[in-house]
Amino acid sequence: MKKEIILGVTGSIAIYKSLELINLLKNKGFNITVIMTKEAEELIKPLTFQVVSENPVFREMFLPVKENALLHIHLADKGDLILICPATANIIGKIAGGISDDLLTCTIFSTKAPVIFCPAMNTQMYKNKIVQENIRKLEKMGYEFIGPVKGRLACGKVGLGHLAPLEMIVEGVLKKLG
Ligand SMILES: Cc1cc2nc3c(=O)[nH]c(=O)nc-3n(C[C@H](O)[C@H](O)[C@H](O)COP(=O)(O)O)c2cc1C
Repeated sequence: MKKEIILGVTGSIAIYKSLELINLLKNKGFNITVIMTKEAEELIKPLTFQVVSENPVFREMFLPVKENALLHIHLADKGDLILICPATANIIGKIAGGISDDLLTCTIFSTKAPVIFCPAMNTQMYKNKIVQENIRKLEKMGYEFIGPVKGRLACGKVGLGHLAPLEMIVEGVLKKLG
């Protein structure tokens, strides 16, 4: 049976790269289920992720259906790995601060599976002391991070905060899932 990756997609401009990441992970034999934050939906429509992942895309915690009423628990149990790519300063801060106010954060808090963040943000945002402290705190607790790296950023500058190369992310996933 295929291993299951729950891909959390957040509101970073690097979001378009997660579409190609899905293809690369599918080629390695993984099944990908996407959870999008509301802000991610401002950048790319869920339909695109649905078509590329060949799976339904999840966004809402409170669905007007009886099946999967506890969707976050279902997704948390189903995932062999939770991969957050791209990961905003916001999602890192929310998890570090214990905030679980949407489907993605609730799934992360409910899982026994490993969780990997792939941050992408402006250099100053990444270097911000609070962001750095949040990352250190999460690393101490066993959450893993891939990147960011130095590269061209959305603001036009070159600096640290660029999403890790997709090959590096795939390699990290393969290492984790054996
Ligand atoms: C065009 C645009 C691009 C953004 N890119 C980033 C980014 O690369 N990294 C980041 O941390 N925040 C970025 N933000 C800010 C986040 O979208 C904002 O913090 C949002 O609340 C994140 O919500 P989420 O983490 O729930 O997806 C961007 C905002 C806009 C309008």
